[in-house]
Amino acid sequence: MTTSATATPVILDCDPGHDDAVAILLAVGSPRIDLLGVTTVFGNCAVENATRNALDVLALAGREEVPVAAGAAEPLQGAAVLGNYVHGASGLDGPALRRSTASPVSTDAVAWMADAITESDRPVTLVATGPITNVARLINARRDLHPKIAEVVFMGGSTERGNHTPYAEFNTYADPEALDVVLRSGIRARMVGLNLTHQALATPTVVERMWQLPRDLGEVVASWMGFFGGSYRKIWNFSSPPVHDPCTIAVLIDPSLIVWQHAFVAVETVGEFTRGATVVDLDQRWPQRPANAEVAMRLDADRYWDLVLAAIGQLVLQPHLW
Ligand code: BDR
Ligand code: CA
Repeated sequence: MTTSATATPVILDCDPGHDDAVAILLAVGSPRIDLLGVTTVFGNCAVENATRNALDVLALAGREEVPVAAGAAEPLQGAAVLGNYVHGASGLDGPALRRSTASPVSTDAVAWMADAITESDRPVTLVATGPITNVARLINARRDLHPKIAEVVFMGGSTERGNHTPYAEFNTYADPEALDVVLRSGIRARMVGLNLTHQALATPTVVERMWQLPRDLGEVVASWMGFFGGSYRKIWNFSSPPVHDPCTIAVLIDPSLIVWQHAFVAVETVGEFTRGATVVDLDQRWPQRPANAEVAMRLDADRYWDLVLAAIGQLVLQPHLW
C-alpha cells in the first residue's frame, strides 16, 4: 500500500494484545498513516511475546517489511505487571497465526526510535498503547529530539475509575513513573483513557461485520474479539469488549472522531491505594496548574467502526495476501 504525501509519520509502541493488534492493522491499513515502525514493551504479556505477536500481526497484514524493535521488559521502577489475565498466556490467545519469517530489527527500541526520528524529515508522532516505558526512556535520554516529536498520543488512564485496580487503568498502573515523565516533558500529549475507549465496544453487530470481511483476516479479527470479549465478560461483566488501542490511531486518521478537552493531567505515583491512577482536572479546581494534555472525552463510535473495518477490509484486498 502506498501512503499519501500527507500521511502522519508514526511509531507505534505497543504490547499486543488483542486491541493493540487491531491498532497495528488499522495503522498499516490506512494511507493516512506512515508507519515508520512498531516498538514493543512488556504489558499484556512479556516483551518477548509482544514482539513475536507484533511480527505475526504484520505478517497477517502482508506487511512484514515494517520494522519491529523490541523494548522494555520492565517498568522504570519495580517489577513488571502483566495482563495475561485478559489476553491469555501468549498475550494474543485465540486463532493460531502463521509465524512471521521476519526478525526484530533491534533489541533496543529506544535507540531505534531515536534513529527513526533523526532520519525522518518531519516530526514524528509517538503512539503508545501499552505501558509507556520506552517513550519515557527516549524522552529522558534524548532531549535534543524533543522538537522532532510532534506529540505523544497514549492509551491509558481515565477521567473516571480504573480497570486493573479500582482507580488505575492497566497501562498507567504498569508504569506510572514513565507516564509522569511524559506528562512533565512539555511535549504535546493526548490521553485516550478508559472513559473514551469504553465507548469503542465491539458489539455483536460490529463482530458480525468483522466476520463478513473477506477471507482470513476478518475471521482472525472476529475470533480475537471472541477471546477478548470472553475476558471482558468474566472479569468486568461487560457484554461487549471495549477495543481501546485503535482509538489512538483512528483519531490521527480522522480528527473529527473524538472530542477533546484541555486539562491538567497527573499520574499518582505514591498513593497506597491509588498508584497508577490519573488525576484529570476537568473542572479547573487547580487554576495554578495549567493544562498539560488534551483528554479524549467523546467518541463517534459508529464512524470509528466504519473507519477501522474499512481499513482492515482494504488490507484484505491487498493482492499479496494470496
Ligand atoms: C489497556 O490494557 C490492555 O489490556 C489493552 O491492550 C489496553 O492497552 C486497557 O486498559
Ligand atoms: Ca495495549
